[in-house]
Amino acid sequence: MDSESTCSKLSTVRTARRKGRGFFIDAIVLVGGKGTRLRPLTLTAPKPMLPTAGVPFLMHQLAQARAAGVDHVVLATSYRAETFEAYFGDGSILGLELEYATESQPMGTGGGIRNVAGQLRGGPADPVLIFNGDVLSGHDIAAQLELHAKNDAAVTLYLTKVDDPRAFGCVPIDAASHVTGFLEKTPDPITNLINAGCYVFRREVIDAMPAGRPLSVERETFPQLLRDGATVMGYVDSAYWLDLGTPQAFIQGSCDLVRGIAPSPAVPGPTGEALVLAGAQVAASATVVGGTCIGARATVGDGAVVDGSVVFDKAVIEAGAHVRDSVIGKGAHIGEGVVLQGVVIGDGAHIGAGNELLEGVRVWPHAILAPGSVRFSSDE
Ligand code: GTP
Repeated sequence: MDSESTCSKLSTVRTARRKGRGFFIDAIVLVGGKGTRLRPLTLTAPKPMLPTAGVPFLMHQLAQARAAGVDHVVLATSYRAETFEAYFGDGSILGLELEYATESQPMGTGGGIRNVAGQLRGGPADPVLIFNGDVLSGHDIAAQLELHAKNDAAVTLYLTKVDDPRAFGCVPIDAASHVTGFLEKTPDPITNLINAGCYVFRREVIDAMPAGRPLSVERETFPQLLRDGATVMGYVDSAYWLDLGTPQAFIQGSCDLVRGIAPSPAVPGPTGEALVLAGAQVAASATVVGGTCIGARATVGDGAVVDGSVVFDKAVIEAGAHVRDSVIGKGAHIGEGVVLQGVVIGDGAHIGAGNELLEGVRVWPHAILAPGSVRFSSDE
């Protein structure tokens, strides 16, 4: 063993002892996806780096991991990998030890986890907490870890109940919380429990996963563990949960964080109807409500209304514009009297005065719409 790995092992043991636990907690955050459903926002930044209630979304998860007593985190990156380290560095700003692993080609959720195996510091039976990098939740991580430890499980999945499970794969459990199946989407689901995207793996299960090829935990690893008779537990928690994969969910997540409906130790300010970041200028006659976040050095002009939206840094919203349920990209310019409802405006785009864009419209970065050139109205 070289001196570097000896030091790292000793520090591992010391950290676990200091926390009065018998085990070490590694965490992996999967942040390598391309985030295609969130285009055009994800053309310039990976989904976990998009500003959500004033900080990159990933900051909320890392703060949550730290609060749960995680000792060491590895980010499993691929798409736009360099942006993560440039922002988070070694993790000391968060009081965490942070490392990076990069897949030159995206290896899928399982491939991303397996690719990190060599960087984990816990022993073979220690827990490794794994987060999908786009899930906002307030679930009790300590209780999930406890269920895992009590049952000496191979894997313990966090499950949440949804009203309409038809759009999801379902994960039924028995009375003792053992997972009994992984079911594909169906019009007639037998349970409303779904995989909520946060797992505890026993470290040696990760070491045994096939290396060097794309792999999906949902489609391959979990079903295979069940076929092998491994103990797979389902931890059900009804706390706040949201997958921020689509523009509307991204907006909802940011607004819920600003309003304090979604819990996070990382929101940079008191929770309320709006969060206005440093250097932003909001005219006294403007209305900013509904959990809107106004980014640093953005401006909102006289009489403008910004409701339930996410406005990135340096964006400009001119006088009299109405922006609802929308994302305004970095440095985008929204002209006088523009109406936006349920739309995504890419970074640096320019929406000339008097335009009206409604539900589902996405404007690509740096596009220019001449004044008064577009009007989509639901009442015509
Ligand atoms: P869409 O393209 O919009 O579906 O988004 P996505 O690419 O993020 O895929 P999805 O939402 O299914 O991914 C769930 C989580 O796994 C996200 O946090 C992704 O960043 C992550 N992820 C998906 N594929 C990979 C991969 O190949 N490697 C790594 N390291 N992470 C991945």
